[in-house]
Amino acid sequence: MRVQAVGSEAAALDWQHIHNLIIPTDPLSADEIAVRAQRNILEVAYVDGVPVGCSTVRPPTSEPATVIARVLPEKRRQGFGAQIYQRGLAKARELGAQVVHTVVLASNDDGLRFARHQGFVEIDRYVLPGDTIAFVDLRLA
Ligand SMILES: CC(C)(COP(=O)(O)OP(=O)(O)OC[C@H]1O[C@@H](n2cnc3c(N)ncnc32)[C@H](O)[C@@H]1OP(=O)(O)O)[C@@H](O)C(=O)NCCC(=O)NCCS
Repeated sequence: MRVQAVGSEAAALDWQHIHNLIIPTDPLSADEIAVRAQRNILEVAYVDGVPVGCSTVRPPTSEPATVIARVLPEKRRQGFGAQIYQRGLAKARELGAQVVHTVVLASNDDGLRFARHQGFVEIDRYVLPGDTIAFVDLRLA
C-alpha cells in the first residue's frame, strides 16, 4: 500500500471520489476539501497504483482527535481498512492525541462493526439538519 497526502490535484480528486461515494449524505466540493486539507491530514491509499481507500485525521484541539478510515466497497475485507486506520491513529498520537474519536454513518454496518473491533464505543448519535441518516460518534476506549 502506498499513501499520498491530499496536496496534488490527482490525490484530491481520488480522496473526493472515495469520500463522496461512501458518505453520500455529506458530499464535499473540491474547495471544501482544500480548506479541510489545511487543518486535517487527508490521505489516499493506493495499491498497484489504484486508489483503495482514504483517511481523515483531525488533530486534537480543544476537541479530541478524530480518525476516519474509508475503503471502497469492492476493496474491503482484505485488511486495507485496518492499515489505513492504524496509520491514522499513529499520526493522531504523534500530534499528541490522548482521546481519539471516530464517526460512522448509522446505516454503515461494516463501519460500525469495524470501529467496535478496533476498540471504539458509541458515545453519541445525531441527525444533521436536512439529513435522514444519523451519524454515530465513537470514542476509543
Ligand atoms: C470500516 C472500513 C474502513 C473497513 O475497511 P476494510 O478494508 O474492509 O477493513 P479490514 O479488511 O481491515 O477489516 C474489515 C473486516 O474484514 C476482516 N478481514 C480482514 N482481512 C480479511 C481477509 N483477508 N478475509 C476475510 N476477512 C478479512 C477483518 O477481520 C475485519 O473484520 P471486522 O470488521 O469484523 O473487525 C470500511 O468498511 C468502510 O470504508 N466503511 C465506511 C467508512 C466507515 O464507516 N469507516 C469507519 C470509521 S473508522
